[in-house]
Parts: sequence; structure tokens; C-alpha cells
Amino acid sequence: MTGASAGSGRILAVESSCDETAVAVVENGRRIVANVVASQVALHGATGGIVPEVAARAHLRWMIPVLEEALSRAGIEDWSDVEAVAVTEGPGLAGSLLVGITMAKTLAWVHGLPLVPVNHLEGHIYAAWLLDPDEEEKPEPEFPLIALVVSGGHTFLVEMKDHLQYRLLGQTVDDAAGEAFDKVGRLLGLPYPGGPAIMHAAEGAQHRDRAFPRAWMNDTFDFSFSGLKTAARREVALELGVEPNALAVNGVSLPDSSVAELAYGFQDSVVDVLSSKTLRAAEESGARTIVVGGGVAANSVLRRRIEEGAAARGIRTLVPRPGLCTDNAAMIGAAGFYRARAGERGGSDLAAKPSLKLAVAPPA
Ligand code: KG4
Ligand code: ZN
Repeated sequence: MTGASAGSGRILAVESSCDETAVAVVENGRRIVANVVASQVALHGATGGIVPEVAARAHLRWMIPVLEEALSRAGIEDWSDVEAVAVTEGPGLAGSLLVGITMAKTLAWVHGLPLVPVNHLEGHIYAAWLLDPDEEEKPEPEFPLIALVVSGGHTFLVEMKDHLQYRLLGQTVDDAAGEAFDKVGRLLGLPYPGGPAIMHAAEGAQHRDRAFPRAWMNDTFDFSFSGLKTAARREVALELGVEPNALAVNGVSLPDSSVAELAYGFQDSVVDVLSSKTLRAAEESGARTIVVGGGVAANSVLRRRIEEGAAARGIRTLVPRPGLCTDNAAMIGAAGFYRARAGERGGSDLAAKPSLKLAVAPPA
């Protein structure tokens, strides 16, 4: 296919930027035909975090089996109904990105298809467009919209007035929200990744009065989460009767009840700041829709807080189901469809871009 509007609308997408090896087939930027994800969570649990070389080797090990599974589930044999191959070009880990890019380039070349580079962060936003194979049709996100992206490496708010147009409203000045969850989870002795572990631990909190600070950043749309780590350390040290500096980095043993209360207080602070700023951004910009993406969007307390606040303001919220909030290739297939239709192409020299930013305009 060379014409920008011709084709079946079927995009084969590859994602390997971090610790999930994923291949998907998506139709018209929306309907998932196949979506296969091999997670390395168990592999990285032993080290309490991702070791880049270990992640890249695991991508090499799993890329072909994941591709074969996706092709078989989508019933693709002769590739004639695939319009383009989309792939995450960044941001992410260099070695991990390289595996996916090499796979996608080879597939595009062998089958004579266009190669379409996609920004991983844009993928997290476009997850809001996806429909599962047997899900009922529902209206697409309407512009103008506000997108909150909260992942392990990024936290930012953008306004979109149309497809692929992003205006940056604010971003974290230090840690990403997911990073804060992971670090505090580790401090509390919870398993990796910290996000889901903190969410589950918080459900058991008997007392909900442990106050964690909120960084409002002078009422801008910027975020800061590094102070929460310090606050969590102070609380844990106080509880154990030691100096904060004397604490082990991980594996402190606190009673379950304290872990639950600290998890609750920390999560409440993160959710409060994320939801308040998102709702205010939506109100001020006259948004019709709020979309939330990235691993932290799998957090049910955050989802509920934004949904309820938006409903009260007559704004629709679209948060993908948890499995589409965390890394997957279907979201790359959704964004890749719009990039393909916009005529964007990657050549045989397409390189991994570990620090790629979303192409955004500064606030007007
Ligand atoms: O988007 P993602 O899968 O990978 C990146 O692109 O970073 O996000 C992973 C992050 C991790 O920090 C993880 O702790 C967090 O998402 N996360 C959660 C939840 N599920 C995953 N954070 C809070 N609550 C959750 N339920
Ligand atoms: Zn991600």
C-alpha cells in the first residue's frame, strides 16, 4: 500500500519498549483482532526492578513465539490484508526497543508493507480508542480531550483538539507516578511492581488518617512525586523507631496493618493530585472527554475518582480496561493506524529512540 487512504485498515503492531513483548493486530485504529502480551514481570520480580540486558534477552526469546501466536489468532496467512506494520520507536530501553524495531522492519520488508513508527506515549493515549474483539460498539473519544498519561516512566497532561495533535499542559518535574508506586512499594517490602501491590494492600487499611503531603506545584499542571518517597521513609522510620537514613532500601518488616495504612495514605495523595489536576484541566479547556492511559491508570481508585468527578461535570471519561493500560501492542496498532493514514513512514534506517518525546506544543 502506498496510497494514504487505501488498504484494509488492519495494522500489525509490535511493542517491546520495556518489559512486555507484545504483538497485536488492530482494525481501523479501534477493533482488536489479536492482542498477545508476554510479560516479564516474574523475571524482574527477583531483582525488584528491570535489568535492561535481561529485558532485551527476554524480548529476543519471546518475540517470535508472540508474533506467531498473534498471527494465528488473527488468522493471518498470506499477509494480503495487512495494511502496515507499526512499531514503537521510543521512548524506552535501547536494547528492548531494538528487538521490536528489527522484527517490524524485517516483516515490513519481507511482505512489502509500509513501516510506521509510533511513540509509546501516544500509544498509551490511543488505548482509549480500542475495542475488544467482542465488545459492543461505543462512541469514540470526542475532541477536545484531556489525556492523563501515568506510567512507570512518564506522567503528563496534554490537550488534544484533533488526532495526533498534542498540547502539553504539565508534566512531572521528578519521578513518574508509577516510579513512586514502585519505590514506595519496595520500601514497604511489597512485591514488584509496587503499583498493584500498593493498591491491594491499601484495601485492607483500618485507619485512613496517615497524612502524606500533596505537591500542588503552585497550581500549575506540573507534578512532583519525589517528596512522597521521603515522606514514606519518614513514616516507616518513625514506626520502627530508627533514623530514616538507617532504613534498608527494601524489605523492612512492618505489621500488615501498618503497611496497609501507609499504602492507603500514599495512594490517596497520588490519586488526589492526579485526579484534581486532570479534572481542572478538563474544566478549564472545555474538554468533552478525559482519557487516562499508562500502567497507573489500572489503579481502580484513580479510575473511580476521575470518572466520578468528570460525570459530575458532564464530561465523559474513557479509561481502558487494566490490561490495555499497561504495555501492549494493540495501543501501538491504534495510534499506528492514524500515523499510517497521515502518511508517516519509517525507513530501513529506523533507529531506537530511548528518550523520544511526544511532539507537543508548549502551553498557549
Ligand atoms: O505503562 P506501563 O505498563 O509501563 C511503562 O511504560 O512504564 O506502567 C508500569 C507502571 C509501574 O510503575 C506499575 O507499578 C504501575 O504502572 N501500575 C500501577 C498499577 N498497575 C500498574 N500503579 C498503580 N496501581 C495499579 N493498579
Ligand atoms: Zn508504557
